Order: sequence, then structure tokens, then C-alpha cells
Amino acid sequence: GILWKGIIEEYREFFPVTDMTPIVSLLEGNTPLIKAINLQKKLNIALDIYLKFDGANPTGSFKDRGMTLALSKAVESGSRAVICASTGNTSASAAAYASRAGIKAIVVIPEGKIAFGKLAQALIHGAHVLQIEGNFDEALRIVKKVVENYPITLVNSINPFRIEGQKSAAFEVCDQLGFVPKYHALPVGNAGNITAYWKGYKEYYNEGIIQSLPKMLGFQAAGAAPIVLGHPVERPETVATAIRIGNPASWKTAVEARDESNGRIDAVTDEEILSAYKLIASTEGIFCEPASAASVAGVIKLYKEGYFEKGEAVVCTLTGHGLKDPDTVFRVTDGAIKVKADFSEIRTIIEKIL
Ligand code: F0G
Repeated sequence: GILWKGIIEEYREFFPVTDMTPIVSLLEGNTPLIKAINLQKKLNIALDIYLKFDGANPTGSFKDRGMTLALSKAVESGSRAVICASTGNTSASAAAYASRAGIKAIVVIPEGKIAFGKLAQALIHGAHVLQIEGNFDEALRIVKKVVENYPITLVNSINPFRIEGQKSAAFEVCDQLGFVPKYHALPVGNAGNITAYWKGYKEYYNEGIIQSLPKMLGFQAAGAAPIVLGHPVERPETVATAIRIGNPASWKTAVEARDESNGRIDAVTDEEILSAYKLIASTEGIFCEPASAASVAGVIKLYKEGYFEKGEAVVCTLTGHGLKDPDTVFRVTDGAIKVKADFSEIRTIIEKIL
């Protein structure tokens, strides 16, 4: 058909749904895959870089892919409420899909360390927002305990339906490109998404739809890089608040994705993240959030190390929309030029710009 029906309907045979499953959807998925021609040129990089802009999903992040299935299955099982811990995007998505489903959402977030737009989303969709004096890892511990004691469905990525839904992004990349990229790069926080992509690629491969598999490249922020370090990080810190996580729930499956694909999980500094964030926006017209830029920052880093061969295709997932986190813009730009409402003043400035 011409109209996109959302990831469950579009890839139905890959999902554990039946005619009895009430599909809760905001028509997520089908996000742009954009060739980064300007960025390649600017950096003089001999690679074919594609940006999978999952910030173009209904709530502005890839979480919608998992949330459509998690909420559909929660409603199917008779659940009246969902709960999650979140650095922001999961809570925004859970709140939106719960309101669509007509059930309650409770979200537990770290105080102060969540981008303002994400908090606004959770609030406007009517979620019960609990800010804890603690980080994501502590929030996750608490919500796990809550669901042991109350009939509430957990919609963090330890809910297998989240991973199931998120694997659809790998399907889309193959369908949109018409071939399999040599590498797939993405930011790593709680490590659900790298797990999901790898599952998706493997399912397409096992069905005979694709004939090769990409190498998975995951990038953590240097101040929150437990998988790279090989041990949990007690106090994770990074400007990329979305991936400010010290003890990822899907740690083991992320390492499996890395090792089975012969890929790599590495760290990028906040400086590298912010530089890629600015570059993507200024060269390609794509505004992603800081955490998303870790994928591109990582590819730039590995390119400089001589990791790739000339001309190879690399897909970078941009996981969330930049509008969620306007504050960071004012850390990396000079802001607006203040000027009197007067033509002669404006004219002086215009002449300097041209
Ligand atoms: N990028 C963004 C924008 C995110 O919000 C997240 C995770 C990630 C990357 C990392 O994905 O956790 O699957 O490895 N955000 C979660 C949240 C933790 O609560 O919104 P991951």
C-alpha cells in the first residue's frame, strides 16, 4: 500500500502478534535514511555514510518502535498501567503510547539530568512523573521492584517486546538501501538497541532476505562506558544524558552482538560527541540529540584510526531528535545576535555575513 501502517503491520510476520492483539500504534517507523554527502566531503572521509534518522519517529526517538509492541502486548494481557525508568526518551514514548492505549503510565527519571523536552512530553501525555535523587541505574532497580509487587507492566527494554519492536529498524535499513551495509554504528546506553538491531539483521539473514550481515559498532560516552571498561560505572557522567548509564541491562547481548558480528564497542568523549552533533546539524540539516551523535563521532574516531577500508558503507543511527534538548544548543553556539529594530543596523550586519 501507499500509506505506511506502522512497524507491526508492515513487518507483521516477524512479530509475536495475533488477530487478538489490539495494535497500539502511532504509525512509527519508515524514518529517513539520508546519505551524508556533505559531512563526508567536509571531513574528507572515503566512506559511504548513511544516517538513519530515527528522531523522525512520532515522539522523536527510536523508542516508539519498541513501545508500539510493548503497549500492544500489555493491553492484550489486560494490563491497566505501565512503568519505566528512563533517561527521558523511553518515558516520553511510554507516556504517549499509554495515552493512545488509554492506560496509565508511571515514569521514574533522574532529577535534573533529563533533557527538558523529554520531561515536557511525559507531562503533557499525562504520565505520572517521579523524579528521584539518583541516576538511571537506581531508577531501573526501583521499577523492577515495583513490578514484582504490583500488577504493572514494565516497559524498559528488559521487556522482550521492546527489543522485538526495535529490530524493525534493521529491516528498514536493508529495505531502504537495497543492500546490507558493511557496518552499523549506534550509541549505546542501556544496550537494548544494539541488541535489537543485531536480532533484526540476523532474522532477515536467516529468512534469506539478505545474504550478509553488518559489523555492529557501538559507542558509549567516555564518562559512562561500562562495557568498554569491563565493569559497571558507579557515577556515570556525560553531556549525552540519554546514555548516562553505568550498568546496562542488556550488557551481555550487546557484547554478543559485537563479538558475533566481529564489530566493536568503543568510547567517545563529550567533546567528540558535541563536535559531531554540531557537524551533522550544520552540514546535513539534521538536528539530532547529543547522544545520537555518538554514532557519527565513533565512526569519525575509527576512521582516523584506519579501521575502515575505502568506500565501505556505514549506517549511523541518529536515535533521537535535537528538539528534545534545546539547552545543549546554547552550549555549542554563540546564540542570537541582539540588534535594534533598525534597517541601517541590520544592513551593517548583513554586509558582514555576505
Ligand atoms: N540514544 C538515545 C537518544 C537514547 O534515548 C538512548 C536510550 C540511547 C541512544 C541508547 O539506547 O539504551 O538501547 O542502548 N535511552 C533510554 C531512555 C535509556 O530511558 O530513554 P540503548
